[in-house]
Amino acid sequence: MTATVPNLSGQSLSGSGVSPDIVALADVDFAYSADAKPVLSGLSMRFPRGKVVAVMGGSGCGKTTVLRLIGGMVRPTRGSVTFNDADIDAMDQTGLYAVRRQMGMLFQFGALFTDLSVFDNVAFPLREHTDLPESMIRDLVLMKLNAVGLRGARDLMPAQISGGMARRVALARAIALDPALLMYDEPFAGLDPISLGLTANLIRNLNDALGATTIIVSHDVQETFMIADYVYFIANGRIAAEGEPEALRASTDPFVRQFVHAEADGPVPFHYAGPSLADDFAAGGTP
Ligand SMILES: Nc1ncnc2c1ncn2[C@@H]1O[C@H](COP(=O)(O)OP(=O)(O)O)[C@@H](O)[C@H]1O
Ligand SMILES: [Mg+2]
Repeated sequence: MTATVPNLSGQSLSGSGVSPDIVALADVDFAYSADAKPVLSGLSMRFPRGKVVAVMGGSGCGKTTVLRLIGGMVRPTRGSVTFNDADIDAMDQTGLYAVRRQMGMLFQFGALFTDLSVFDNVAFPLREHTDLPESMIRDLVLMKLNAVGLRGARDLMPAQISGGMARRVALARAIALDPALLMYDEPFAGLDPISLGLTANLIRNLNDALGATTIIVSHDVQETFMIADYVYFIANGRIAAEGEPEALRASTDPFVRQFVHAEADGPVPFHYAGPSLADDFAAGGTP
C-alpha cells in the first residue's frame, strides 16, 4: 500500500517527483536591513533527508541566519527557502506554524528554564503544542530522557546538573515532538571534551533513530567532521567550500586548509584591515 501524504503545497510526498531534500536554499540573498551589508549573497544549499549536514564558518559569517531563514523567522531578499518543496516565504501564519512543528531547534546559548525541573523542561513543548493526556506526556518525556541517558535525572533542577547534562536535556527537549528536521546552533559550545564527544554521538544517533534530518551549525571542526555526512563552509556570504568531511580534510584549497587545520593566518587574515605596518611606523607617519 502506498500512503499519500499531502504536503503544504498540495503535492504528493510519496510520488516520484519529490525532491530528496527536506530543506533547500536556492540563490538566496539576505540582509538584515536595506542599508546593511548583505549577510548572504547567492547562497544555495541542500539538506537531503536522513543526513546530518553541517554549516560551518567563522563568527558572524551567517550560520545562525541560515537557521533563521529555514525557520521562517527572517525572509530572503531574493531566492527561495523550501521545506518539503514548499516555499517558506509564501506561507501564511498557519502554514508556517505547521512547518515549525516539524522542526526541533536547539538555539545558540539556548538555556533550560531554570525554574522548571528536567522533566518539565522536556515536557514543555508537548504541553505547549499537543493535547496529550498527562500520562502519555510522562511516557514520552521519560523515553526522550532515556534516549539521552538522563531518565534518572528527571526530578533534578537545572542548577543541580552539569553543563554537559544540561545540553543533553536541551537535546531531549528539541526532539520532544519527534521533529522531521533537527537544527542545532553551536551544540558543542562551552562543553568539556568528554561531554563534547558524547553530545556529538548523541546528535548522530538521535538523527538515525528518529529517521530525521539534522542541520548542525558549528565551528568545531573535529566533532562536526566526526558525525556529519556533508559540510558547507560559508565565507563572505557565499559557499567557500563544500563536501564530505574526508574530502575536505584532504583538500588543498587554502581557505579549507586554514579552517580545517586551525591556521591563524591565511585567506581569512590575522590582521584586521588597516594601514600597513610601514605607514604606521614610518618616521613622520600620520597618527
Ligand atoms: N538581528 C540582527 N540584526 C542585524 N544584524 C544582525 C542580526 N543578527 C545578526 N546580525 C549580523 O549578521 C551577520 C551574521 O550573523 P549570524 O548569522 O549570527 O552569524 P554566525 O551565526 O555565523 O556567527 C553578523 O554580521 C551579525 O552581526
Ligand atoms: Mg551564530
